[in-house]
Amino acid sequence: MVHCDVLIIGAGVAGCTAALRAAELGADVLLATKDALGESNSAHAQGGIIGLAHSGDSPELLASDIESAGAGLCRTEALELLAAQGPRLCRDFLWKRVGVPFDIDETTGRPETTSEAAHSARRIYHVKDATGKAIQTSLSEAVLKHPNVRIITETCLLDLITVPHHSANPRAVYDPIQVKGAYLLDASGKVDMAIAKRTILATGGLGYIYLHTSNPSGATGDGLAAAYRASARIVNCEYMQFHPTTLFIQGHPRKLLTEALRGEGAHLLNAGGDRFMSEFEPEDMELAPRDRVCRAMFEEMAQSGKTCVYLDLSPLKAKLDLEVRFPTVVKACIAEGIDPLNELIPVVPAAHYFCGGVSVDLDGRTTLDGLFAVGEVACTGLHGANRLASLSLLECLLWGYRAAEAAVEDCGRVGLPDISTLRPWQPVVSPVEPDPLLIEQDWNSIRSTMWNYAGIVRAKNRLYRGRNDMGYLYHRIDSFYRSAPVSRPLLELRNGITCARLILKAALQNPQSCGCHYRVD
Ligand code: SIN
Repeated sequence: MVHCDVLIIGAGVAGCTAALRAAELGADVLLATKDALGESNSAHAQGGIIGLAHSGDSPELLASDIESAGAGLCRTEALELLAAQGPRLCRDFLWKRVGVPFDIDETTGRPETTSEAAHSARRIYHVKDATGKAIQTSLSEAVLKHPNVRIITETCLLDLITVPHHSANPRAVYDPIQVKGAYLLDASGKVDMAIAKRTILATGGLGYIYLHTSNPSGATGDGLAAAYRASARIVNCEYMQFHPTTLFIQGHPRKLLTEALRGEGAHLLNAGGDRFMSEFEPEDMELAPRDRVCRAMFEEMAQSGKTCVYLDLSPLKAKLDLEVRFPTVVKACIAEGIDPLNELIPVVPAAHYFCGGVSVDLDGRTTLDGLFAVGEVACTGLHGANRLASLSLLECLLWGYRAAEAAVEDCGRVGLPDISTLRPWQPVVSPVEPDPLLIEQDWNSIRSTMWNYAGIVRAKNRLYRGRNDMGYLYHRIDSFYRSAPVSRPLLELRNGITCARLILKAALQNPQSCGCHYRVD
């Protein structure tokens, strides 16, 4: 059993920011991460993070861009807070304090800015086209150096420890639900209790539950599923965002091709070489918000019967050295036998970012006492029904920072939980190890169901079928889980099916098309 003031689960940009800020404020921090430190969904973000524009921008303009990308469903206080405080924090904390090596504009000595779809100003800080990785690396180094942060890697969140669910006292049923820490599963299969005054979930997203995704395989919605099991309020699950441009090579995993390419002037073409966006989005063309670009691509592919469209980088060649500005993209294409400087790049949309999540306030507090959530696992309301490009890292930063401050303040007035009233983990004792083939087949069912029935364009009959199929599969997986020794693959599968059901249920219940939830019935 380990004790700490603040337990942070997940070490992406949100988790590391929270850890660093809480440590700076003197808290004893335990940071647990499923993989090695530095491996996270955040590290895959390419384009950038919203910073301070050199000119022609204002908090009002940023707020209005977020609101219109979010299809009018954004939470006003969240977007006003972010527009007022976020870009400055990006400059002061990430650039000046943590030392993220943003590309620098040589004339001003300040971070260089670029543009992306649906932004009215050039306000995106970047580190070539690997911004997430650079921010993640700098933050990881900073937390590693801080004496107040203990880091445990290769450790999964098994469940949140809650009273009354995990209380040894039957009378605790009369208490409000409180989070006291988490059961954590290490790489050797051992389960330990981490007891904390405050717990911050920063477990990231769930894109892996879709067949085609820009996310890594660890994006299985672990925090969302655990919060759901603990009875936290979960909202906006129908709003799954798809990214328009991932590299399409039949039979290979999708690779992200950053939005900044279109921001700098790349075109989308159909197989006949036409800029088909003029038919669907004559005003904004390739720079319409992601949901609208994805639907236009979907329609174009449906009408033409083709499996992909193409990204044309030739308009960029006159103004940029592509190999210097977009080395990740160039490398990814060349690895698949495509010369992006001289050939069209085949692209399709893929599941990218979950706009819903555990409902939180402006400090990241969930509806459960003792539990905060930050980053993609949380729903601050900032993204409404569709996220603006390059906003996620800034949200991770601002809410990670604020949640740490609120959690540390709480620590000053609450004591460590009385552990004598908490039940240790009850392991399943069984000689039978879970069959990997069953796990793989269950994942195939989840991922293809979600792609086909809860994808870019949705219909009632498909959602209904998906909900029923996933309901049936859930019961099988749950009994599988309860009868075999716990393991990371089994845990992730159970979390994946839980998240799939949350999305299908929300999508079925909401007949109103809005942002990235698009119904055709
Ligand atoms: C991209 O570079 O297009 C991905 C980053 C984001 O989703 O904002």
